[in-house]
Amino acid sequence: MLTEAAARAALTSVPYPGLERDIVALGLVRAVTVRNDRVHVSLVLSTERDDVPDLLRAAIRERLKDAGAVRCEVQILPPEQAPGRRNPWAGRSRLPNVGRVVAVGAGKGGVGKSTVAVNLALALRDRGARVGLLDADIYGPSVPMLVGLEDGAKRVRMSDRKQVIPLEVLGLSVVSFGFFLGPESPAVWRGPMVGKAVKQFSRGVLWPELDILVVDLPPGTGDVPLSLAQAVVVDGAVVVTTPQRLAATEAAKAVSMFRKLAVPVLGVVENMAFAECACGRRSHPFGQGGGERLAREEGIDVMGSVPFDEATVEGGDTGVPAALRGPDTGTARAFARIAEGVTRRLTQAP
Ligand SMILES: Nc1ncnc2c1ncn2[C@@H]1O[C@H](COP(=O)(O)OP(=O)(O)OP(=O)(O)O)[C@@H](O)[C@H]1O
Ligand SMILES: [Mg+2]
Repeated sequence: MLTEAAARAALTSVPYPGLERDIVALGLVRAVTVRNDRVHVSLVLSTERDDVPDLLRAAIRERLKDAGAVRCEVQILPPEQAPGRRNPWAGRSRLPNVGRVVAVGAGKGGVGKSTVAVNLALALRDRGARVGLLDADIYGPSVPMLVGLEDGAKRVRMSDRKQVIPLEVLGLSVVSFGFFLGPESPAVWRGPMVGKAVKQFSRGVLWPELDILVVDLPPGTGDVPLSLAQAVVVDGAVVVTTPQRLAATEAAKAVSMFRKLAVPVLGVVENMAFAECACGRRSHPFGQGGGERLAREEGIDVMGSVPFDEATVEGGDTGVPAALRGPDTGTARAFARIAEGVTRRLTQAP
């Protein structure tokens, strides 16, 4: 006969639609009771998407039936009707001193999120904003190298109240997970550890007065964006893709993840969109149209197309970001436009 423990175990194989984490790990399951072969599950759910309750009901029934339940009842409660239960979003608040938080994410790895995050931060700085950069890529922090702070681990200091004091470089206030991970940084972070680390990390920084904090996320729709959005109010997300179909498909997953996390998607940046030769002619080494298709299908804007640029690769390796090489390159112009779009959309946001 099915036990409550077995029923709960079965629920750990029900992912939240569009996320990699399951409904038990997300803290959504309020109660599971089993009488004879009949299972009653109640969930607490706060979502603006109408299809999620039905998707979850169907998935839960299927898994419980596989586990031996004969009848299943699934009750879904909005957070306000669930007394005594912690709302997973309740801890979310604004960071002191920080005006707006913008996350840079993507579904796929290696599409240029970190490059975009750094150059966007610099382009926002050039517009006169006070800008912070938080490298939340716990699995492979690359911001220290991109901004020339490989020695960040040695230089970073804590305040008397044990808060991280950001390092100042290129006119930005920068904090990276890379400052706190040893050379053999663990790729073995498990879900709950990630959640805790991201929460501490995002809230435990003594930021100076900032207009905008740009957050570089790891690839994918895993624990880091989820934990970040649960810990702090994220005002907007920029989703990076390359023109390839696969990258655009993965980026669509990131778009739907941000929506589920109640983070407004400001738009998509198509990186390595084209190459330009000295004569001004454009070619498309990585294909064409992925960003536009994504934008059309998801009802969002393309905020900018960043060219493939040899100098960006070199810049990434030498700590001189592309946006620093003067306003006259195609890359710098693209980032100026993206920064303008981000600023405009953030001020439109409620
Ligand atoms: N527009 C560009 N032109 C040429 N090279 C680029 C461009 N954007 C990024 N790159 C290069 O592509 C590689 C990956 O970029 P980056 O590290 O920014 O991607 P990422 O999405 O942050 O990767 P990860 O998923 O590992 O975090 C780097 O070597 C970078 O220099
Ligand atoms: Mg990166």
